Amino acid sequence: MFNESADRARLWCYLLSQGLEVKNFVFLSDAEKKLILSWRNNPEISRFMFRKSPISFEEHNFFISELFQSNDRFYYLLFKKDCPIGVVNFNKVDWKKRIAKFGLYKNPKLAISVGNVLLFVLEFLADFVLNLSILMAEVFSYNEKAIRLYRRFNYEFCCQTGDILIFKKCLKR
Ligand SMILES: CC(C)(COP(=O)(O)OP(=O)(O)OC[C@H]1O[C@@H](n2cnc3c(N)ncnc32)[C@H](O)[C@@H]1OP(=O)(O)O)[C@@H](O)C(=O)NCCC(=O)NCCS
Repeated sequence: MFNESADRARLWCYLLSQGLEVKNFVFLSDAEKKLILSWRNNPEISRFMFRKSPISFEEHNFFISELFQSNDRFYYLLFKKDCPIGVVNFNKVDWKKRIAKFGLYKNPKLAISVGNVLLFVLEFLADFVLNLSILMAEVFSYNEKAIRLYRRFNYEFCCQTGDILIFKKCLKR
């Protein structure tokens, strides 16, 4: 799905026309920072993250303030028609190899599926904004939703270490 940059660009234009917005974490308001922290600390989200214990507002603020200086970590909040729908992020960006690890989580209060939109936008940012070639994901073996989502987007299973599965996708062929 969406292997070609041209397909990605077309769908991006469509999503923009449908009210999609992307905001880098460094531009978040205090209210948006608090909202995201409440998502990240929600057990429906944190149980799938490496750090499962609650994050304090001070830690969260410090983490976001460090993003201003960072050259290898990028976090974005996504909106659809002004409704915040989720977060996508890139970590450990290696600019030489054009490879990065990514993560994503939805607004846990949303009853609708947003996995497709989140992962599509993540790939668009990776391809057109960060100019990355390879995306890597680490996911717990019990995270069935994320695994199904990655498979649907043609991520290749690479290996398993303990209960962590690694998936990979080449964006530019
Ligand atoms: C991963 C995540 C972003 C997906 O968003 P979503 O809105 O739940 O996505 P979808 O509803 O499209 O579901 C994705 C897939 O899981 C399937 N699914 C839904 N409920 C499920 C369940 N209870 N058990 C197993 N699979 C399920 C869907 O059918 C879909 O698979 P399909 O394409 O084969 O139909 C979201 O679940 C989330 O934020 N999870 C917590 C954070 C996380 O796990 N992040 C990834 C690791 S960093």
